[in-house]
Amino acid sequence: MSSVSVVSSTLAASSTPAPSRPTALYGGQAGRRVTVRDLAAAKERREKWPMVTAYDAMTARVFDEAGIPVMLVGDSAAMVVYGYDSTLPVTVDDLLPLTAAVVRGSSRAMVVADLPFGSYQASPQQALETAARFMKEAGAHAIKLEGGHRVLPQVELLVSAGIPVMAHLGLTPQSVNVLGGYRVQGRGQSGDELMADAKALEHAGAFAVVLECVPSDLAQRVTTSLSIPTIGIGAGADTDAQVLVWQDLMGLTPRPAKFVKKYFDLAGEMDRAVRAYADEVVSGAFPTADHSYH
Ligand code: KIV
Repeated sequence: MSSVSVVSSTLAASSTPAPSRPTALYGGQAGRRVTVRDLAAAKERREKWPMVTAYDAMTARVFDEAGIPVMLVGDSAAMVVYGYDSTLPVTVDDLLPLTAAVVRGSSRAMVVADLPFGSYQASPQQALETAARFMKEAGAHAIKLEGGHRVLPQVELLVSAGIPVMAHLGLTPQSVNVLGGYRVQGRGQSGDELMADAKALEHAGAFAVVLECVPSDLAQRVTTSLSIPTIGIGAGADTDAQVLVWQDLMGLTPRPAKFVKKYFDLAGEMDRAVRAYADEVVSGAFPTADHSYH
């Protein structure tokens, strides 16, 4: 196709009449991907929305069909997929195929790729190279990185290159060794620093900010001070959105954090199911004629 026909078909697509009524983010219309503009519009409407992590195509499909508007391929994959005891060891090459699978398994959700430890801190150039890999090789629609003032040059360069950036403040697990453990952040004076970081990240062009393990009143103040959405995890009820690791909310994680609500007993259900299967194999009750070819 010539560049002229590419441009004209792009214009034709973009001249399709926009829906006259705002589309709800959670459970809203399928047919196109959720964009950063949809998230900004939801903040204006004061509409809260859910985000979950996802790491594979089949799980992503279930969440997408349930209407989850944003899925994060978190570096939490280090723990819940790869079995490490922190997020530090996971690499870009570990996360790229998971991100591509989540993109393939979904058709509406915005898929956000988490940049792993060591893949963006060195320089804005390093961040751009890593983020570009997630966009080009995995089809991610946005990236997330951790940190405040130290990563502002990274955020500015990525945004100027056309890459939507989700920021992450408070308990930033990639800095667990500096923070001295997985503990609540932003109490006392450090709350002012977190607020300043949040404002600076918004100014640098971030489209949303995750607030992890911070006192509810601080999260509420940050939420009302920013025009971009805040996404809470262990940050109380007043953020614009909430995020949970799916294995936590489904009850697969053995010892979840205090902020997790367990919506299902997946570990228990899987245990019951696999034991039933194993017992039937041993007894000869499975397979029956119904599960056999004739
Ligand atoms: O990696 C992850 O899953 C995250 C969320 C918990 C926000 O960063």
